[in-house]
Formats: sequence, structure tokens, C-alpha cells
Amino acid sequence: MRITMVGTGYVGLVTGTCFSNIGNEVTCLDVDPAKIEKLNNGISPIYEPGLDELIDRNHKAGRLHFTTDKTQAYTNAEMIFICVGTPSDEMGHADLKYVLAAASDIGKAIENAPGATGGELEERRGKIIVVKSTVPVGTNEKVRQAIAAETNKPFYMASNPEFLKEGAAINDFNKPDRVVVGVNDEGTGGRMRKLYEPFVRNGHPIFVMDVPSAEMVKYAANAMLATKISFINEIANLCEAYGSNVDEVWRGMTSDARIGNKFLYPGLGYGGSCFPKDTLACVSMGIESETPTPLLKAVHDVNQQQRLNFYDKIVEFFGGEENLSGKKIAMWGLAFKPGTDDVREAPALTIANKLVDAGATVEAHDPVAHETTQIVLGDSIGYHDDLYATLGSADALVICTDWPEFKQPDFGKMRSLMGSPIVFDGRNLYNPQLLQDEGFTYFSVGRTPVNAEEANVAK
Ligand SMILES: NC(=O)c1ccc[n+]([C@@H]2O[C@H](COP(=O)([O-])OP(=O)(O)OC[C@H]3O[C@@H](n4cnc5c(N)ncnc54)[C@H](O)[C@@H]3O)[C@@H](O)[C@H]2O)c1
Repeated sequence: MRITMVGTGYVGLVTGTCFSNIGNEVTCLDVDPAKIEKLNNGISPIYEPGLDELIDRNHKAGRLHFTTDKTQAYTNAEMIFICVGTPSDEMGHADLKYVLAAASDIGKAIENAPGATGGELEERRGKIIVVKSTVPVGTNEKVRQAIAAETNKPFYMASNPEFLKEGAAINDFNKPDRVVVGVNDEGTGGRMRKLYEPFVRNGHPIFVMDVPSAEMVKYAANAMLATKISFINEIANLCEAYGSNVDEVWRGMTSDARIGNKFLYPGLGYGGSCFPKDTLACVSMGIESETPTPLLKAVHDVNQQQRLNFYDKIVEFFGGEENLSGKKIAMWGLAFKPGTDDVREAPALTIANKLVDAGATVEAHDPVAHETTQIVLGDSIGYHDDLYATLGSADALVICTDWPEFKQPDFGKMRSLMGSPIVFDGRNLYNPQLLQDEGFTYFSVGRTPVNAEEANVAK
């Protein structure tokens, strides 16, 4: 099939590359010429494990193209996937300006395109415009109207929310738990099934449903995952207040099969480009439809507070924000989660900003997210390619992302480099007893700090 992906970000680039990898002819379109130039030079603009090699192979095979030329990208395509960003606007609504701009361009291209020849009958009847971006219920209809405002020629609509996770995106897309497709007619459903069948040879389902339900599935899934994180963080905070150990509580609680143990880890809360904005978009949909969503509002508020609570722990330890001035803080992890260079809504950036505002120096290491962080924080913090290079004379280490390489560091080396052996672990990477034995003062989430009083006396 001839497919065009509109937007070559984390979703458009990965899914387009995977479609091309099974033999489709894919064009990835973006309005950002720098991204397209990088891709045409064989450089991926994002970090995603395994992606570079897959892009290279399919690009060289002539199945994967990158362009800023809308006419070329839209005219020849049988299916056009809209994968542009839908960030929160200042009111928390999903901002549809990129989606609707793409829709209008698509309408113009359909209007100006010569009549399609060849291909199957359905293909000759009209292109399928697929909304893959996460969008509020009713957006597919707005997209249809925006296209129809430019052309009377036939086209079809489909909603196809994407469930890939950054850091595991290729595997998630190639072997999805499920594919969700929303359509208005059986023919489009059949064409979408045909496209996705090679990805579900594992027997996982393709759910074809009505469009408003497909649009809601993605929000419901992300809202549920966000709820789990805020829930366990709230329990972790209670554990700290009452001297319970959240690890033990987790074990005891998650052995109940009705609860399960997935996605229930306490920490700094969720970040990234999806959970924060999708939870807020649900709240906005509730306000718009006068259907209160107090639970999801609380999920969001708990999440925003969690990173501030953690910062407050640092402040409290040093005896007030004014005492952070002149302190040297090492930071491990900037990305919102391991496996990605994405720092959108990353807790690390909130904490780094607050430390810098308080007058501390922040020396950071992340395996892949220096460039993306620099776009946001500039040189207000230091960046180090080696994790130990952050530690020289540090007054404390703050861990914000659970990258695997942070899990078993050389504690002796850390101790000898740091000015004071103090660790604030926002991801519960270590056993508190081990850190106590290693001579660290150690703060984590939902567990009693170790050696904190001794360190306070020494200060
Ligand atoms: N990132 C994820 O893990 C993920 C997962 C599932 C769903 N989603 C959803 O997918 C959508 C895209 O997310 P993303 O993270 O890939 O976004 P992104 O910001 O990484 O990429 C969006 C791209 O679209 C381009 N663009 C904007 N307007 C355009 C236009 N008119 N024509 C062509 N290109 C245009 C931008 O330049 C950018 O490169 C969002 O709705 C998001 O919620 C994201």
C-alpha cells in the first residue's frame, strides 16, 4: 500500500518505518525541514532503540521516503495517517491546530489530485484519512469537515489510536496487544484490517468499532494507567507518614489477582507527552460535556504534587530553600522514563529548575537526553557523558529516571567522589539497607530514610 505519515515524531516515524518494513511504500511528511534533512542523511531526529537501523534498511531499499513536500506526499497516497502533536492548550484542552491544519492541506491535495487509476476498487473510490494522533471524541468528525470544506471528492475516515510506548515502540507496534480502529463503513474497516493483519499474526485482536468509541479507548487507557501511578504514589506518601514500607505494602497488595502488579510503582509520578495531557484532556471533555471527572482531576493534581513533594524533601534536609544556594547537586536521569530522549513534562526538569532557581548548581547525566534537555533548560545545568563525572564534591545526588545503568553503580567510587554521601532516589532503585551499609544517607519514596539523622547532626 502507498501510505503517508503526517508528522515524523515519536509516533509517525516509528509507525511509518514499521509499515515500510513489511513492504509498504511509505512517505513520512513533516513541516520541520531540519528533521527531514536529518532523516534524508540517515540520522534519526529521536532516540528510540532499534529505530536507526530499521530506518536505514528501509530507506536504502527505496520503501521509506522523507519529505516536506505536501503535494507529493498527499497526492499519491492510498492512506494518510495524521500523527501530529496534540499538546494541551493553556486550559488543558487538546490543541487541535496541527491536526486541523493537516486536514485542510489534505483536503486541498485531494481536490487538486488527478483521478486515481489502478489499484483495487475501494482505493479508486477514495483515500482513507486515518487519525492516529490522540484526540478528543468528535475530532474525527471535525477532521472530516475540514477536509470536506476543501473538496467534494470522496474520501474515507478512520480513527486508529496508537498504543506504543517510547523506549519499546518498535516491539509494541510490531506486536501490539490490540489494534483499535474506528470507522463509519465496513469497506474502510476491511481495508484497515488488511493493513494490520501482518502485525497480529500472534493472534492478538483488531477491534473495529464506531469512531467515538475508538477515540475514547485511548483516553480511557491512558487515564487508567495514570490513575494507577497516582494511586500508588498517594499510598507511598501515607507509608512515609506512618513508617510503613511501600515495597512490603506493594507485595502484600499486588498478590491479589484482582489488583495485579503491573504499572504500580511509586516514584516521581508520570511525565512525557501522553499521560499528563491526556488526563487533562479527559478533564476538559468532562467540563465541556458537564460530566464531572473529579477522579481524573485528582489523578493529575496528585501527579503534579508528587515531584514537588520530592523537591521539598531535599529542601527540608538542607534546612530550607535558602540553604540550597551554593550547593552542588548531581542529577542522574533527565528523560521522563528510561529508553527515550523525550523530556516533555519530565519530573527531572521541574526539580532541576527549582534547584537552579534556589541557587544550587546542577550537574546532570542522562544516557541520551542531553540534547533534548538543552533545548528546554539551556546551559542552566551542566551535562556530563559519564555518570560519575557529575559527582565530584557533590552535596547530594538526585535520581530522577530509572535507567538500568544506574541500578548497580560502584558505591565506593560514588562515596569517594561526593562531598557528602547523600542520595535522593526518586525511583526507588536501591535497597535502603544496602545504602545504609554502604554509608549513604538515603531518601526514597514511600520508605523510611536511612542515616538521615546522623547526616543532619554532621551538617
Ligand atoms: N509519543 C508517544 O509515546 C505517543 C504514543 C501514542 C500516541 N501518541 C500521540 O500521537 C501524537 C503524536 O505524538 P508524538 O509524540 O509523535 O509527537 P511529536 O511532537 O514527536 O511529533 C509531531 C510531529 O508532527 C509535525 N507536524 C506538525 N504539524 C504538521 C503538519 N501540518 N504536517 C506535517 N507535520 C507536522 C511536527 O513537526 C513533529 O515533528 C499525539 O497526539 C500523541 O498524543 C504519542
